[in-house]
Amino acid sequence: MIYTINNKISIYQSGEPKNKAILFIHGFPYDHNMWEKQVEELKSAYHCVTYDIRGLGSSPAGDGQLTMESFVDDVESIIDSLKLERPVLCGLSMGGYIAFRCMERMQDKFSGLIICDSKPEADNNEAKLRRASGIKTINTEGVQKFVEDFVPGCFAPGSISNSKIPYEEVLNRSMKFDPKGVKGCLLAMLSRTDTTSYLSQIKIPTLIICGEDDKLTPPEVMKLTSESITHSEFFIIPEAGHMTPIENPKFVNKVILNFLKKHFARE
Ligand code: MLT
Repeated sequence: MIYTINNKISIYQSGEPKNKAILFIHGFPYDHNMWEKQVEELKSAYHCVTYDIRGLGSSPAGDGQLTMESFVDDVESIIDSLKLERPVLCGLSMGGYIAFRCMERMQDKFSGLIICDSKPEADNNEAKLRRASGIKTINTEGVQKFVEDFVPGCFAPGSISNSKIPYEEVLNRSMKFDPKGVKGCLLAMLSRTDTTSYLSQIKIPTLIICGEDDKLTPPEVMKLTSESITHSEFFIIPEAGHMTPIENPKFVNKVILNFLKKHFARE
């Protein structure tokens, strides 16, 4: 079912609304389809909510002036409008940046946290310059060229050549995104705050997942993040880069299901 709020943010729901809710936040530059295999498996026991981040997929970019704070405002609006009762928040990469900031702003609205291939640190100077160069590429050569340059680095090389993984589908979808939205997301990431100092205050059960071949947020970095969170479990996903839910959905689903059963079985 598709549902829209606040200037048409597209929200997709599967599973019984009376079941425990999981709110999924996708990465950049992707959309809710990233979680297709997780929703497919989890919807029989959980209320799965995915959405397109403002500016990506079918959620409009508006004036393109996007910030991490506005992304967190959108999460809050989704929770309130769907009346989700302390959902488990699951974010990948940029979705993880949003999720970490959600913890800092409103941890009590959630009962659990799942972070896939992400980090709490803000962009350093080098990363900011890379974002600026990405914006320039979009302005001069178009979003298609930016996506062609950016997306391959998110997948493990073995995944790109694996016909079971919908790499081309993902690439083609992202190439059609509104340039204003993609640039807005780059600016939102570039200007986000650092949430590292808040990690020790995260008290809800947390699961940290990282692809063994993730070059953007490598396992050794994510392990340190996990060690800074009190009730956290850390898993390395084999045969995957930065896009774990797409590259190895079977393994990711198993890890997520075990985590959910362990902490939320009776809710
Ligand atoms: C993502 O997958 O969301 C991006 O790689 C995040 C980033 O560019 O920092």
